Amino acid sequence: MLLNHEKINFLHLPTPLEYLPTLSKELQIELYIKRDDLTGIGMGGNKLRKLEYFLYDAKQKGATTLLTLGGAQTNHGRLTAAVAAKHGMKCVILCIDEYPGEVSANILLDRLMGAEVVLKKSDGRDVSLQYDELTKEISKRYELEGEVVYPIPIGGSNELGMLGYYECAMELTKQAETLDLENARVISTVGSMGTYMGLFCGLKNENSPLALTGIAILPFEEEKEIHLMNYFKKIKDFYSLPLTPSASDFDVETDYIREGYNKPNQKVREAIYKMARKEAIILDPCYTGKTFAAILDMVQQGKIKKGETIIFLHTGGQPGINTPFHRIEMEKELIDGVTIL
Ligand SMILES: Cc1ncc(COP(=O)(O)O)c(C=O)c1O
Repeated sequence: MLLNHEKINFLHLPTPLEYLPTLSKELQIELYIKRDDLTGIGMGGNKLRKLEYFLYDAKQKGATTLLTLGGAQTNHGRLTAAVAAKHGMKCVILCIDEYPGEVSANILLDRLMGAEVVLKKSDGRDVSLQYDELTKEISKRYELEGEVVYPIPIGGSNELGMLGYYECAMELTKQAETLDLENARVISTVGSMGTYMGLFCGLKNENSPLALTGIAILPFEEEKEIHLMNYFKKIKDFYSLPLTPSASDFDVETDYIREGYNKPNQKVREAIYKMARKEAIILDPCYTGKTFAAILDMVQQGKIKKGETIIFLHTGGQPGINTPFHRIEMEKELIDGVTIL
């Protein structure tokens, strides 16, 4: 049991586990959705579960400013901004990325909630090195103003952040038991890996009957596989976990990366339209839309069997539909249903 770690509770838990009747019938599977897009503040999403633990740690250390990293459209940054706003702290989000040309989508929300967003174009060197340098530079500026800065890693994916999804694994197991879904498979997006790793450790260590498949949404070469094993090893050592998985126990689908991280893709947009038109649930183009497009293909390919019970984890991210390059592609496809009299 890992969860004797303290956290500051600010989520609406448990999030609902809903049956999707129309899509279940169409796909001939039993499709459920775990609504982690409904976690509460700042428009919700998976990162809030991790941030309950980070906030406690930050407060314990006397921090007054939360600093985190990510792409210009980082959902994790937006939710860090939300937590900081709600708890009387400052927030700064560092992005080694291009300015997208307008203050919209997550950047708009970051600014609405009072966070500073620092964008710096990559100079081509190793990105983590560039993040380290930028973190030092900006932390120093805040510290000179008397702030105590608490840095949170990209995606909140370290030993502490993964506890949010360890806890979610326990929550899901309980909900599945109540609904008689013990033979279900949870399907989750894999980005910076904290969500998948928390679920993996939670399900295995708590002897849950639920299976888990991750969908990689960014290039997942050998280097990433090694990173996954190293991440697990760190957690195992940190919490003295009695688990000894081999690489093949980590079930991560790598066939659905498509054009790469956060790149517009028609199949992903079609999946987003399908979910919206059949179940009135909005997905995002970077993470959950890609994962749902993967689920649709896995049904077609027989990787998901007819009649199988699937729990699709909705991790949020909807502000991403307003990212200029995604919005423009959707506008082109959807304008035909706009009648201008
Ligand atoms: C909406 C959304 N879904 C899924 C993920 C992936 O989670 P993780 O980074 O923990 O793998 C992210 C990460 O930023 C996200 O913003």
